[in-house]
Amino acid sequence: MEQHPDRRILVLARIGRDSELLCAALQRQGFMCTQVFSQDDILHELKVGAGAAIVTEESLNGAGENWGRRLHAQPAWSDLPVIVLTGAGGSKFTARSPLYRSYSNITLLERPVRPEILVSAVETALRARLRQYEVRDYMERQGESQDALRRTEKLAVAGRMAASIAHEINNPLAAITNLLFLISTSQDLETIRKYNAIAQEELRRVSDIANQTLRFYRAPNPPELVKISEVTDSALALFRSKLRTNSIKVHRDYAEHAEITVSLGELRQVLVNLIANAIDALPNGGNLLLRTSAVRHPRDGREGVSITVADDGQGISPEAQNRIFSPFFTTKGTTGTGLGLWLTRDILEHQRGYIRYRNHRSPHGAVFTIWLPIHPPANVAAPQLQAHAS
Ligand SMILES: Nc1ncnc2c1ncn2[C@@H]1O[C@H](COP(=O)(O)OP(=O)(O)O)[C@@H](O)[C@H]1O
Ligand SMILES: [Mg+2]
Repeated sequence: MEQHPDRRILVLARIGRDSELLCAALQRQGFMCTQVFSQDDILHELKVGAGAAIVTEESLNGAGENWGRRLHAQPAWSDLPVIVLTGAGGSKFTARSPLYRSYSNITLLERPVRPEILVSAVETALRARLRQYEVRDYMERQGESQDALRRTEKLAVAGRMAASIAHEINNPLAAITNLLFLISTSQDLETIRKYNAIAQEELRRVSDIANQTLRFYRAPNPPELVKISEVTDSALALFRSKLRTNSIKVHRDYAEHAEITVSLGELRQVLVNLIANAIDALPNGGNLLLRTSAVRHPRDGREGVSITVADDGQGISPEAQNRIFSPFFTTKGTTGTGLGLWLTRDILEHQRGYIRYRNHRSPHGAVFTIWLPIHPPANVAAPQLQAHAS
């Protein structure tokens, strides 16, 4: 059999040479075996890898609910099979034993156990365990492909931003080029001063845009105290000329002084996604509403802020309603990635916030509301996809 800790049988028997004999017997049958000396050893070895555990009833003395609960606290995919060798002529171990109540993957075998019975019980346990490993591997692969998706969407967002930044910078640069030409051909000092003032104003716009962009990509950044209205406005600023050319009127309704501690880059990304979607929903112009307010979490009462991005476009079609948060779901053909909302929800859940949406009828349109806690959860810096790794 392949030498891998995942397939080891842990044996815990406290009396005499029981565990040595058991291990020797199992090894003769081709199983890998590791003797352990306490219930804690089992928990410890399990972290390294184990296929099943065989324990004698007497070595479980005092193994109550606590041990069961700790054993139960394995990764979601894992449920170590435990074979308990009970005393001859019936067992004190019953369905009401604390261990049994707190841990369910237990098989009882009454001693003396015929070797073929033991071997078949161990084989069954190992087979079940191998299936658990398949689930683990599947979950790991899923985690990797989700990471890849997240990177893809980040690239798409970066590409979109680069395009809109180039666009934003192009207009003032064209104006400055014209103004310099006018200055070079003008004789009148008064006129030259006037052109010069306008050119300086345009240059300031360029440097504003550059500054905002740099702040954008100081990512990935740790949580910091941010003023919601400032982040919202700086996300809006990226779409300034698009909003103008598409005749979209922006309405802002900000709660005074709303501040939270959050990763600035992530919050901006969320807002950019939602604003970009609203703009896409308004190809013939319309209204875009941004509203921020300080509200508590509806269920657990945590302090936080909500940000609403609403538009009066077509709203979300009935076919799309349940799918907009799925990766790759898009109604925009080749121009959409279908990853924006998926990533947005991922970011918010990671921050222990949420996103909701609804359509409103009059006027028509989609309303997206996000909520974030004022204080980030303690584990927010931890990579989320490792939750299942053992
Ligand atoms: N404001 C909105 N109005 C109408 N539909 C929307 C809006 N926001 C998102 N949607 C729908 O959700 C889909 C998924 O959005 P998203 O995940 O951002 O991907 P993408 O924008 O690349 O299509 C969109 O294709 C669209 O059908
Ligand atoms: Mg989108």
